[in-house]
Amino acid sequence: MTGPDPVSPRTPRPLGTGRFPRFQPEDRGAALRRPEAAPRTLRSIAIGGGKGGIGKSLVAVTLGIELVRRGLRVVLVDCDLGGANLHSFLGMEYPKETLSDFVLRRVENLSQLVITTPVPGLGLVSGARNAIQVANPMHQQKLRLLRAVQKLDADVAVLDLGAGTHYNVVDFFLQAHHGILLIVPEPTSVENAYRFLKAAFLRRIRSVDASFGIRDLIQEVTRARGQRPLVPAEIVRAVAERDPEAGAALEREMASFKPLLLVNQVREPKDLALGEGMCAASRRLFGLELTYLGHLRHYDQVWRAVRAHQPVFFEKLGKSFALDLAAVAGRLLELPVPKEAVP
Ligand SMILES: Nc1ncnc2c1ncn2[C@@H]1O[C@H](COP(=O)(O)OP(=O)(O)O)[C@@H](O)[C@H]1O
Ligand SMILES: [Mg+2]
Repeated sequence: MTGPDPVSPRTPRPLGTGRFPRFQPEDRGAALRRPEAAPRTLRSIAIGGGKGGIGKSLVAVTLGIELVRRGLRVVLVDCDLGGANLHSFLGMEYPKETLSDFVLRRVENLSQLVITTPVPGLGLVSGARNAIQVANPMHQQKLRLLRAVQKLDADVAVLDLGAGTHYNVVDFFLQAHHGILLIVPEPTSVENAYRFLKAAFLRRIRSVDASFGIRDLIQEVTRARGQRPLVPAEIVRAVAERDPEAGAALEREMASFKPLLLVNQVREPKDLALGEGMCAASRRLFGLELTYLGHLRHYDQVWRAVRAHQPVFFEKLGKSFALDLAAVAGRLLELPVPKEAVP
């Protein structure tokens, strides 16, 4: 593996005051690879997948750790508005300052909420404490949050999403530069992932709606009462038949919607075929192109560490998991940063 030495484990800081020191992104000084005058582009990565318990949070944390190991400054943002738990993966108590403070406008600047974690170079914006107050943020609040994430003083922001296909989850997935669709080799996970993809696609084409005024048309073709619901490619085709210009705009949306696929908890060789298989099925059935990022093997020690409330530091990840993670991170960093999605 290349890059600087693995992040060394540190004893979590004393938690007595309940406050964590502010994240100082310049702490790592020389570790920053960005040349002085180069314009800074924060790469935002959201991790979704529809199903709970498949490892979204674990992947968010361990990917963050791997990116830090490569000398990048990373901030994890816990966007699981119903069950924030990234802090516990890092052995931290529930921080006092959380996303609630930003969403409820107690704090105007998101960077004020970035706290240090036991992994140097890895910051955390902890998840909302009062889920009821913030679990259903208004569109404007979401945009404000996403714009604020984009302005964080870091190289990468990793957004951990909640389960489900609600538009509040899907919007984060769509607005980040890269949306990683996480699946595990289980039928329910694959089903949920397809549902997630479709929900994301439908949400995404609302922007075409807005500019072409074809809301009714999309509703008409998607409703298809009593019939099998249309898949994305069929929706585009049906719209194009009625309004070729709008159809072309939808086609452009479809072509530029390129979620990344990551298979977690691989246990046996046949699981390895799932990623490519799902990409092919998504292309064939949905007309949607997924980019396959790779897989992460199931590693029992990681699971044990999480269960025992121990932080998942680099050394705990095990060789096979760390190798998989490095390959995934490498592929991710090779991808160009797409045009900013947040308006
Ligand atoms: N590759 C893996 N190897 C071992 N344990 C894993 C792996 N991926 C996830 N887990 C475990 O599965 C459980 C659920 O993961 P979590 O990240 O909380 O899921 P989600 O965020 O999708 O709800 C955790 O105990 C986690 O440690
Ligand atoms: Mg989670």
